[in-house]
Amino acid sequence: MKQARIAIDRYAVLSEIDPRVYGSFIEHLGRAVYEGIYQPGHPTADEEGFRGDTLELVKELNVPVVRYPGGNFVSGYRWEDGVGPRDQRPRRLEYAWKVTETNEVGLNEFVSWCKKAGTEPMMAVNLGTRGMEEAKDLLEYCNHPSGSAMSDLRRSHGYAEPHNIKLWCLGNEMDGPWQMGHKTAYEYGRLANETGRIMKTYDKNLEMVVCGSSTFTMPTFGEWEREVLMQSYDIADYISLHMYWNNRANDTSSFLAESVNLDKFISSVVSICDYVQTIKRGKKKINLSFDEWNVWYHSKGAQFEPWSEHPHQLEDVYNFEDALLVGSALITLLRHADRVKIACMAQLVNVIAPIMTSDTGAWRQTIFYPFLHASTMGRGKVLNTTVLSPTYACRFTDSAPYLDSVVVEDEENETLTIFAVNKSLDEPMELVCDLRQYADYAVTRHIVLEHDDMKAVNTEENPNTVIPHEGGESQNDAGDFRAVLNPHSWNVIRLKKQ
Ligand code: AHR
Repeated sequence: MKQARIAIDRYAVLSEIDPRVYGSFIEHLGRAVYEGIYQPGHPTADEEGFRGDTLELVKELNVPVVRYPGGNFVSGYRWEDGVGPRDQRPRRLEYAWKVTETNEVGLNEFVSWCKKAGTEPMMAVNLGTRGMEEAKDLLEYCNHPSGSAMSDLRRSHGYAEPHNIKLWCLGNEMDGPWQMGHKTAYEYGRLANETGRIMKTYDKNLEMVVCGSSTFTMPTFGEWEREVLMQSYDIADYISLHMYWNNRANDTSSFLAESVNLDKFISSVVSICDYVQTIKRGKKKINLSFDEWNVWYHSKGAQFEPWSEHPHQLEDVYNFEDALLVGSALITLLRHADRVKIACMAQLVNVIAPIMTSDTGAWRQTIFYPFLHASTMGRGKVLNTTVLSPTYACRFTDSAPYLDSVVVEDEENETLTIFAVNKSLDEPMELVCDLRQYADYAVTRHIVLEHDDMKAVNTEENPNTVIPHEGGESQNDAGDFRAVLNPHSWNVIRLKKQ
């Protein structure tokens, strides 16, 4: 049996975890909004038309922040179309996804849904086809109490209290040639800076996310971040990162090793942030908002009727191996908790999402589970552990670790949680850890997500094909911690002070 070791010191703390690392994303895209969170007439819909079954699953995931309304969608969006009396809202052709947007749901409804879901909005402004003026109006509409044109407009729409939205994305993927209003790094950096400056003049406590690269392999990656931050350092609090993975090559070992690339991506962006801070002689550290990440490929090439209303788009059906990579991605994000303060799984419902709905039900995809475990049990602080793991060679590296792992301590509840993925496709692994500093902690749970078939999926008819079970093998014998991680498995080992 392979053996891996975690070297741990309870006083070596990497960082408190910002709960917003368990964020998500809802875009006006496909059936995310319509039929996902909103479906008047559905048996579980409330008086505002929000689906109760979706809300229950969102609450279960305990998502602290949800990015909205896009995505590529935001780069052509007029936010004014989505407010005011519904029967006067225009139907618009939506060019990012080639559909018709009815505007039945807009920002007020979204904020209302957020309250019901127990989450906060992370609002994106259109810096593609629009600019500072519209962002300024949107902020005033959302956050000013009353006595100005935009705040009074909101009040006239039935929302007397301001929404007080704190977290703002200045555009989306502006480095991408596919993006409406795509810009050079200099053009975008200047625009982001001027827009952010206006918004922070209104309220210096607002937090701004500027656009980083759409993915690690963009030809402009690196130089884009440097230039954007050089232009916008004064107003930027976070820079965004986006990354999606696929197993089109059907090479599962390489697919599961993608966390290595994720790790490199994060470290590279951290270096650039620190470089710009140095050049600027700045006090402020720029942190990271990994506001789109997931597996995305199963649905690519799916056909739909152009300019139709909320067609089935990007409806990836996730399999078991996708859940393993999602687990590894969560571990990697947490291992950078000192700089990754916000992260949004893309997306939340129906569109590349952990939750799927039909007219007759809502169910949990395979990737729901690692997210659920991390979001509900990965709270507290990340310990600065060293993971010593045997490695394997794959398509893009000679040394992918078999084990991805992170240790989280929740001092208040006196728990220690080890998240671990064994990527070996055929062998179990012994995990060893010197836990003498936690000798009085005992294993209370060892949850395992595993399946013989890497391609197994959950569907509406068979929603429980891939589900976690308790009873993994692990023990802490006066500080001599040992666990067995089954081949290709996601593990959550919880220890509690006795
Ligand atoms: O999440 C789907 C799309 O992926 C988003 O709209 C865009 O920002 C990214 O390219």
